[in-house]
Amino acid sequence: MDAAGSDASPDPAPPAPPSTPTNGAEMLPRRRFFSRLSTAVSAAAAVIVGVPFIGFLVAPLVRRVPREWRAVGPVDRFAVGETVSVTFQDASPLPWSGVTARTAAWLRRTEDGGFTAFSVNCTHLGCPVQWIADARLFLCPCHGGVYNADGTVAAGPPPRPLGEYPVRVRSGRVEILTSPIPFA
Ligand code: FES
Repeated sequence: MDAAGSDASPDPAPPAPPSTPTNGAEMLPRRRFFSRLSTAVSAAAAVIVGVPFIGFLVAPLVRRVPREWRAVGPVDRFAVGETVSVTFQDASPLPWSGVTARTAAWLRRTEDGGFTAFSVNCTHLGCPVQWIADARLFLCPCHGGVYNADGTVAAGPPPRPLGEYPVRVRSGRVEILTSPIPFA
C-alpha cells in the first residue's frame, strides 16, 4: 500500500511506438517493388526504342526488291558492236549502302540496233567479270571462269551463263531494268 493508502495496480506500460520505415524487415518488400518497377520501366523503354530501330535495320533485307528503269546514256554514245561498262544505281540500296549502291553492267549495241546488257557478276561466286575485246570473252579473275561473248559459259567453274538485264530505248536514251543480284 502506498502513502495515499491506495492499492491500485501500477500504470500500464506505454504503447509501443508505431513502426517506422527504418525497420529493415519492412523496407525489403518496398525495395523489391521499386527494383521490379525499375526493371519493368527499363524493359518497356528498351522495347519502345529497340523495335523501330531493329525494324529499320531488318526491313530492307526482307522486303521485295523493286525493279526500276535506269538511264545509262544516250543511244549515240554507244558504237555498234562494242561492249562497254556502264554504271547505274541499284533499285534497292540499303540506307547505309553508300557508294556500293551503284552497280554495273556490260552493255553492247548489237547490229540490229538493239542492246544487250550482261551482269558484271560471275555466276560462280559473284566476282566482277572483265570483257576482253580482242578475245571477245568475259574473264573472271577469281577462279578463271570464262564466258563467251553471248554470256554462255566457255570454261571454268561458273554454273550458268551471265545474267542479262532487260534493256530499252526511251527518248533517245538507253535504259536498263535493275534486277536483284544474283539473277534468279
Ligand atoms: S567467282 Fe568467277 S570463277 Fe569463281
